[in-house]
Amino acid sequence: MKVAIIGAGNVGAMVASRVVDSGLADVALIDIAPGLAKGKALDISDSRPITGSSSKIEGSEDLKDMRGAGIVVVTAGLARKPGMSRDDLIRKNSEIIKDVSLNIKKHASLAIVIIVTNPLDAMSYLTMKTAAFKPERVIGMAGVLDSARFINMVSSGSARMQSDRIFMMGSHGDTMVAINRSVDLDDKTFKEASEKARNRGAEIVGHLKTGSAYFAPSAAVFSMLRAILKDENRTVCCSAYLDGEYGEKDVYIGVPVTLGSSGVIKIIEIELTQQEKKAFKKSVRQIRDTIAKL
Ligand code: APR
Repeated sequence: MKVAIIGAGNVGAMVASRVVDSGLADVALIDIAPGLAKGKALDISDSRPITGSSSKIEGSEDLKDMRGAGIVVVTAGLARKPGMSRDDLIRKNSEIIKDVSLNIKKHASLAIVIIVTNPLDAMSYLTMKTAAFKPERVIGMAGVLDSARFINMVSSGSARMQSDRIFMMGSHGDTMVAINRSVDLDDKTFKEASEKARNRGAEIVGHLKTGSAYFAPSAAVFSMLRAILKDENRTVCCSAYLDGEYGEKDVYIGVPVTLGSSGVIKIIEIELTQQEKKAFKKSVRQIRDTIAKL
């Protein structure tokens, strides 16, 4: 199986490295920046005698080299620069996503697509509409990452993912909703941990100054790739298209889903408390506002 990764920046290259090192699949790494994907692909390829992997990787500047991919991971986009408004960023990334989506439709029309580019939920919606793909084949990566951050806060890294019991729902943004059906936490600890998890991305950017997180984001994409490629039918939190689930229609938002070889096999509807329902609705409104700007 071939995985195409569009965007060979921090997240894209790290996903490529994880996929090749583990031998999960062959990789086509593609970026418009001249030489970037080619150089990184050669570098990743050179690790194979060390890791013992037989996966192949090719770097390219041409989107048509995604041809034959069963999964396309989209990390292509711009990071917000000083002086750039959130709306400017949405406009720029929408243009990139539209172009990439049309190319996916043309060159990899049967692929499952994983979207990483922000604003994630709206970009997943845009891809599904532009490529005219079935919603179960377009999935946004965020819930795995946000849930991992939340779990890491409450367990100091000792807990494994429990995507059906402790996780983050809602938008990949300020209004994400922490859900805990597992760990015995007092209210104060729960609130503090969820707040910290919500701000983790900004905290990391604050330290790095240039660029944003990519180790945990790439681990999250890798976990989704594995669930699909190995048909694991595993519960994973990601941005998925709602068609009546949770009382919402025609929107992408973070929810627990069953992920397998055909993409989203099922959206899992958990019972929400009144407070969680209110927070989830707020999150939906925020995403709809962004979608309206596309
Ligand atoms: N086609 C292919 N690649 C593109 C395109 C395009 N049309 N437009 C931009 N790119 C590439 C850039 O050249 C860059 O190498 O996308 C890459 C993005 O990489 P980084 O800036 O390093 O961003 P990264 O940290 O990898 O994050 C990827 O995820 O967090 C989100 O929206 C955020 O844009 C960010 C994305």
